[in-house]
Amino acid sequence: MQHNIKKIALLTGGGDCPGLNATIRAITKSAILNYGYEVIGYKFGYRGLYNNDFMPLTLETVSDLLPKGGTILYSSNKDNLFDYSVEENGKVVKKDVSDIAIENMKKEHVDALVVIGGDGTLTSARDFARKGVNVIGVPKTIDNDLGSTDTTFGFNTATEIATEALDRLTTTAQSHHRIMILEVMGRNAGFIALESGIAGSADIILLPEMPYDIKKIIDKINQRKREGNLFTIIVVAEGAKEKDGNIVVSKIVSDSPDPIRLGGIGNKLAADIEKIIKDQEVRCTVLGHLQRGGNTCTFDRILSTRYGVAAVELINEGKFGNMVALKGTKITYSSLEDVIGNNKVVDKEGELVNVAKKIGVCFAD
Ligand code: F6P
Repeated sequence: MQHNIKKIALLTGGGDCPGLNATIRAITKSAILNYGYEVIGYKFGYRGLYNNDFMPLTLETVSDLLPKGGTILYSSNKDNLFDYSVEENGKVVKKDVSDIAIENMKKEHVDALVVIGGDGTLTSARDFARKGVNVIGVPKTIDNDLGSTDTTFGFNTATEIATEALDRLTTTAQSHHRIMILEVMGRNAGFIALESGIAGSADIILLPEMPYDIKKIIDKINQRKREGNLFTIIVVAEGAKEKDGNIVVSKIVSDSPDPIRLGGIGNKLAADIEKIIKDQEVRCTVLGHLQRGGNTCTFDRILSTRYGVAAVELINEGKFGNMVALKGTKITYSSLEDVIGNNKVVDKEGELVNVAKKIGVCFAD
């Protein structure tokens, strides 16, 4: 089916993520080389759509972009145009300004919009689709918590960085007989902690999905000592919590649609362990945004490229209101209506948790 598409626009929303630039490159190249579309990119996510602030995307603009983290279009995780802060009579009020964005697209003769983002950004994509905009979604997040796709780009890069961090911490742990804790990101999902924990040979993995019992952590450390292992490696997801305890919040970003920023569980755990274990030092490393920066890994470069090409194919076929997705080894798509509110978490009875348990990893649950 041919649609009368001449010009498309992209935007990146939410936290930056390895693979965003690779996706921008793939969409731009595929759109220009195969269909001759003109391509523009709105800056700072939806804010650019509201302010009509955009840049042309050409083969030249996107050359040299494939490995680079971040996004040349910039991003924002605060600007929901359906509930947007505007100043009126000297007061800041929340308003639905989505019609202004739609007018801006009309003015620029944008025929289709590709939205690259996580659940917040894709919720607005769905809402624009409901208003008749020709939208295609592309899923991204290092957390890998979007239910409608098996994997999001960014996740594998973040997990590789966390794995390398565990490898590096292990040599110090072994040399000084320490208990080393690595706190990783992931919000309320433990995928980064679980996979890096297995790949980085952690002795204890603590996940949001499996609240921990501090006594079981201490037992595992003591058991290792009895067996002659005088160091212990722990990976803890930022969303993990003690049984009957609370998540640890590092910051409230009050003007963000999702204001809670997690962080601090690793240092809390270190202090709790040190109260009980007196003959070993405990140290915590918080990996933080190192997980999102730097070069994109091979898997994510390929996945981003596949998603980008698939997004342009959906535009060419007129299949709007959908998000590209990976199911098994195949690229497919799901309706944006089904994507939202369908977040996934680690299955605590699943194969990966079971594999880790079978090789002696403790989840302290
Ligand atoms: O969703 C991606 C993510 O990196 C989470 O893992 C983390 O909790 C959050 O974003 C951090 O957000 P910010 O960059 O605003 O601190």
